Amino acid sequence: MNDNPPYLNENLGIEERVTDLLSRLTTKEKYILLASHDRRRIYTTKPIKRLRIPSFKMTDGPLGASYHSSGLKKNTRFPAPISLAATWNRRLAGEVGSAMGEEVRAIGRHMLLAPAMNIHRTPLCGRTFEYFSEDPYLTKEIAIPVVKGIQSQGIGGCLKHYAANNQETNRATCSAEIDERTLHEIYLRAFRAVVKEADPWAVMAAYNKVNGVYACENKYLIRDLLLEKWNFKGIVMTDWFSTRRDQTTEGCINAGLSLEMPWPFKYKVKSLKKAYADGILTDEALNDLARRNLRVMMLTGAIGDAKAQSRGSRNTAQHHNLARRAAEEGIVLLKNEGSLLPLDIEAIDKIALFGPNLKKKFGGFLKGGSSGVKPPFEITPLAGMKEKCKGKIKIVADASQADLAIVFAGLDNGKGGDSEFQDRSSLELPDDQIALINRTAATNPNTIVVLIAGSPIAMDGWLEAVPVVLEAWYSGMEGGRAIANVLFGNINPSGKLPLTFPRKLADSPAHSGGSSRTYPGDEEKKVHYDEGIFVGYRWFDKEKIDPLFPFGFGMSYTVFEYGSMHLNKGSITHTDDTFNVDLDVMNAGERAGAEVVQVYSRDIQASVERPQKELIGFGKIRLKPGERKTVSITVRAEDLAFYDIHKHEWVVEPGDFEILVGRSAQDIVAKAVLSYT
Ligand code: BGC
Repeated sequence: MNDNPPYLNENLGIEERVTDLLSRLTTKEKYILLASHDRRRIYTTKPIKRLRIPSFKMTDGPLGASYHSSGLKKNTRFPAPISLAATWNRRLAGEVGSAMGEEVRAIGRHMLLAPAMNIHRTPLCGRTFEYFSEDPYLTKEIAIPVVKGIQSQGIGGCLKHYAANNQETNRATCSAEIDERTLHEIYLRAFRAVVKEADPWAVMAAYNKVNGVYACENKYLIRDLLLEKWNFKGIVMTDWFSTRRDQTTEGCINAGLSLEMPWPFKYKVKSLKKAYADGILTDEALNDLARRNLRVMMLTGAIGDAKAQSRGSRNTAQHHNLARRAAEEGIVLLKNEGSLLPLDIEAIDKIALFGPNLKKKFGGFLKGGSSGVKPPFEITPLAGMKEKCKGKIKIVADASQADLAIVFAGLDNGKGGDSEFQDRSSLELPDDQIALINRTAATNPNTIVVLIAGSPIAMDGWLEAVPVVLEAWYSGMEGGRAIANVLFGNINPSGKLPLTFPRKLADSPAHSGGSSRTYPGDEEKKVHYDEGIFVGYRWFDKEKIDPLFPFGFGMSYTVFEYGSMHLNKGSITHTDDTFNVDLDVMNAGERAGAEVVQVYSRDIQASVERPQKELIGFGKIRLKPGERKTVSITVRAEDLAFYDIHKHEWVVEPGDFEILVGRSAQDIVAKAVLSYT
């Protein structure tokens, strides 16, 4: 073989290189590129040594490079995506993406199977912690920098699970029955935006069916939308073992599936050969599928000069610091009666610590499912508290003898809690935890509850009994330190909820009717998304249900005063237009802090029913005590659109829109009108 064929010449354009390589591959070799064919290593594809095509190596995310799929390597465990979304900080999301990419490079892999971007439809979904939000706008705004960050390191990002994988119960057999508008407006919107704006190198098709057709052979989802309408150029892969007996090779080919993982069922060489002979798999289609995979192998440097690639780095002090910073910024202060927090380290003698999550480590082999990252060390809440209290405060076991008590409650990132493969069975804390909280609060009125969980928790049975609740999520390997920093005021909390906390399960849209039809599915395993576009706060607004804590809610140790609001334009005319929402915010308290200013819209004259408000922008602003700043939030007109089922397109209808600015979806402080003409 020519020692430097064009496809290895990195000075040439990628399409030219792929075309050259395709011309050298036999038809059988192209088949081999469409599935893993390596039964021992289920995260890698089969090499074609003759042409110096190495195996393409993937590893799970989305909390970092997971343990089980990175050759049992311990890597930085970053906070769960729900926590990252709670930061409402795009820049930080980009930093985390980039650091994860560096870690993936360092373990010699080419792609991180992240981000996971399904919408929080039910609070019971076992993978709520792995997903960002109930809102598509917030989902895309965090996912875009994550993907750009990962790919800035030459590592592929992989959007998953496309689409409507909103529950774990029967995930491989159920069908999400969704009307066209809801599908686009809620469940596809973020995927579309990230494809357009971040150019991800792969998309993973979900296990479930969407409207009766398995996601990985769903021609509408993959070929018609993703490939043709959104012009996606990357790999379309299956979720692991997702192809089923009742699927066909033809269906997968026609849909545009380019990679079957982790080994072939529908893309066995024999089956592809037959499809080729029958004219189902044409040369054009085969080349297109193979091209997608080869292109990404080149983008990641898998094909080419391996030495020219950066080696990456993992477990650096910088990454661990970043994991802590992200954890701190994701923590949400839900209740703080009598300003018990922040704790004054000089004024406290004794603290009593309790709870099942006090000493727990959350990272580990397949902990929580495929996202399990095992870090080299993990700062548990107890370790974080000990470090902080050392030499200053005594940690005791008797709440009656302490100045205050802290219960580290919540769920496990595993069986019975938040986990892949199964949904939660209840919105409540386990009974023994409720009893522990109430018992402790009865003994010591200064009882603080720190929740470590990846999904909403009902609090009826205990919230009144305690003055403070802090939502810490699964906050990664530095979580204990981050929690202690927030409790003691080294960090002023600035996280805001990326999803609504309902008071009870029946308040939540998928559970409102109390029938299995909407969750977990009828006798034919059809899950009817009867609530339509009214997911999350859109539902609570429409039904006038008072949530326990609304979307976008989160308290601070300081007070932010909102001044008047100003739109830089009174009207706009094009979907490409943008406008600015300017607002004065002042820190009227005594501590520096950060505030997430949220912008929502309401379409006043719509031809279809629209939500009472929809998130269309946000900005995070940092202010010193007494400081006042104008936050200027740019909003795109296209984010005012709805999906028109007659035009099969996103449409902004002429008319007036109310632009709302608030601290949360329920705390709107200013309004103005904008017209679209
Ligand atoms: C999960 C995916 C994951 C894959 C590979 C599946 O069980 O749904 O998110 O990437 O396994 O581990």
